[in-house]
Amino acid sequence: MMSFSGQTRIYGIIGDPIGHSLSPLMQNAAIAAAGLDACYLPFHVPGAHLGAAVEGLRALGIGGFNVTLPHKQQILSRLDGVDENATLIGAVNTVVCRERCLHGYNTDCSGFLRALREDLQFEPAGRNILLFGAGGACRAALVALLRSQAQNLWLVNRQQEKAHMLAQEFQGLFPTQQISAYSLNDTAYLQLLPHADLIVNTTSVGLRGEDLECCPLERVKAGTAVYDMVYSVVETPFVCRARRQGLSAADGLNMLAAQGEDAFFLWHAMLAEKGLMKNCLQEWRRTHSH
Ligand code: ATR
Repeated sequence: MMSFSGQTRIYGIIGDPIGHSLSPLMQNAAIAAAGLDACYLPFHVPGAHLGAAVEGLRALGIGGFNVTLPHKQQILSRLDGVDENATLIGAVNTVVCRERCLHGYNTDCSGFLRALREDLQFEPAGRNILLFGAGGACRAALVALLRSQAQNLWLVNRQQEKAHMLAQEFQGLFPTQQISAYSLNDTAYLQLLPHADLIVNTTSVGLRGEDLECCPLERVKAGTAVYDMVYSVVETPFVCRARRQGLSAADGLNMLAAQGEDAFFLWHAMLAEKGLMKNCLQEWRRTHSH
């Protein structure tokens, strides 16, 4: 049972909708395990109230908060400072508040990288990486991979123009690495599959239990790692298919835990108990998947 005092530090998450967020579950578990006098709450904030909510949180002296859909982009202009990676991505998912100054970070980006290293033992430097998608999730993955010196990045998207724009934007910023764009509607990308060291699904395909059929894994070489940013109450068909084929694969639940651990570190200046957030999420999956 949590107990509160006059010193209790408040943290939380803002979004719309917010009722399904798993962050309160895992953040409060980590707070309790660390014996901190703190709590983490969900705040339902519709877009029209974003400005008032942010100023309210500042006025109340909140310790920090996470930001989820649909506010990750709109929040930037309301903060006092934004970390370099979050600026590049154009999205903030974690805000640290010190003396009522709000500073934005993107722990989806750092969490993705840590999940790749810890769950798949994958080190991006010098590697070939194929990403499906060209939306917000793709930007976070792209910055993480470019920052860690991935060599070839192949963006495959249904609307090729979006992938093309993204490739062009980041190619200008990272001129020594190669970023190229492909269309899902043209089979040319299939020729890349045997050369990929890592395949990442950044699209929303899988959220409703559908498989990422555009990725025929029988074409990939042994040892290719597979990362699906999607998670749901059961493992995604894409991850299941990769594992059946003997590939090492992880899904978005690992990334959710990793981004939460990175936010915890930013707020509390200490590491969350190792594996605790991931265990919370796996327990949630066990109890909700029937
Ligand atoms: P997010 O912020 O989660 O990345 P987003 O910016 O809306 O969300 O991007 C969704 C991505 O999933 C896009 O790359 C989208 O492809 P398009 O740009 O061509 O729309 C991709 N996506 C969504 N549904 C898809 C589907 N059925 N098949 C292939 N790609 C899909």
